[in-house]
Amino acid sequence: MTSISNARAMLRPLALACLLAGLPATQALAVDWAGVPAKDIALAYAGQASWEWVLTKNDHEGAEKFRGGKDCRQCHDAESIAKDGAKIAEAGKLEPSPIAGKPGHLPIKVQVAHDGTKLYFRLQWKETGSNAKQSEFAAHASVMLSDASVKEAVRAGCWAGCHDDVEGMASAGAAPQEKYLGASRAKLGRTGGGANLKPQADIDKLLAAGTFLEYWSAALAPGKPPVAANGYILDKPHKAASPAVAADATFAGGEWTVVLSRPLAGAGPGQKSFTAGNVYPVGIAIHDGFTKGRWHYVSMEHSLSIDGGAADLVAKKQ
Ligand code: HEC
Repeated sequence: MTSISNARAMLRPLALACLLAGLPATQALAVDWAGVPAKDIALAYAGQASWEWVLTKNDHEGAEKFRGGKDCRQCHDAESIAKDGAKIAEAGKLEPSPIAGKPGHLPIKVQVAHDGTKLYFRLQWKETGSNAKQSEFAAHASVMLSDASVKEAVRAGCWAGCHDDVEGMASAGAAPQEKYLGASRAKLGRTGGGANLKPQADIDKLLAAGTFLEYWSAALAPGKPPVAANGYILDKPHKAASPAVAADATFAGGEWTVVLSRPLAGAGPGQKSFTAGNVYPVGIAIHDGFTKGRWHYVSMEHSLSIDGGAADLVAKKQ
């Protein structure tokens, strides 16, 4: 078993500051996860089923009703995600290059908490055991956070950033896009929004208004410290030059336990501030089995609130 904590190493100066202030140094770090309820979430293997695919009647049976206001999870429960994923993971229309032995869905456990200073996500899953040899990392764990202004995230979770012309998707062509939000494009068609970017001034306004997907991630290799990253997706992904997110990871008995955290208060554009009384759409994506790009497991719509309120995940003070 390897227990890794680059977060703690990074926080040594803070520990010293706490000591000087007469506070226990571990106060801001230790969350007692045993007392935090865990939510089971089924992540889907969706292959090339993009945002545009789900909206297209000839491709997706749920398209018309989704357009009419029914959200993904109102039709797809864990059982349906497992059944559809198993079909997609085999060679077929939505997955032209399947990975041998890759399961069609990934059940994970999710816990959230805060300590008055930081927000924490704890993700746990059993590794699938497949090896795609696409990445040097065994896995990547990512969380995406937004607000009510990103309607696609409210209604469809990870699908908010997943378009048909993104690298690896069906309409990628010779000049694939990176992940983006529909709001950044002047128009969206069946193949996505392409290079039809809105003027920069409009994109700046969206960023200032909070219309972006913030992401936190950790690249994972057993026996090595996790590599944390964060940033936001709007016209494309913008990775923060120095990570605001800390990652802690353990791999034991075939199971990953990953804790991602960052201060509740956002530091500047592209970072949310998390406060009680608001609901934040959440997307979770796991690249297990040495995968990259579309060969990951993704969540449909889930929500987060702080301290209380109607959400799938409620971060309470520990
Ligand atoms: C009105 C109900 C309904 C809604 C809402 C809905 N779907 Fe579906 N979806 C279906 C049905 C029915 C099928 C086909 C039967 C099955 O395999 O589940 C399907 C199939 C799928 C498949 C598998 C396709 C395949 O070929 O195996 C994916 C992926 C999918 N939906 C994703 C989504 C996503 C993402 C959303 C939200 C953006 C969504 N669905 C919303 C009803 C719905």
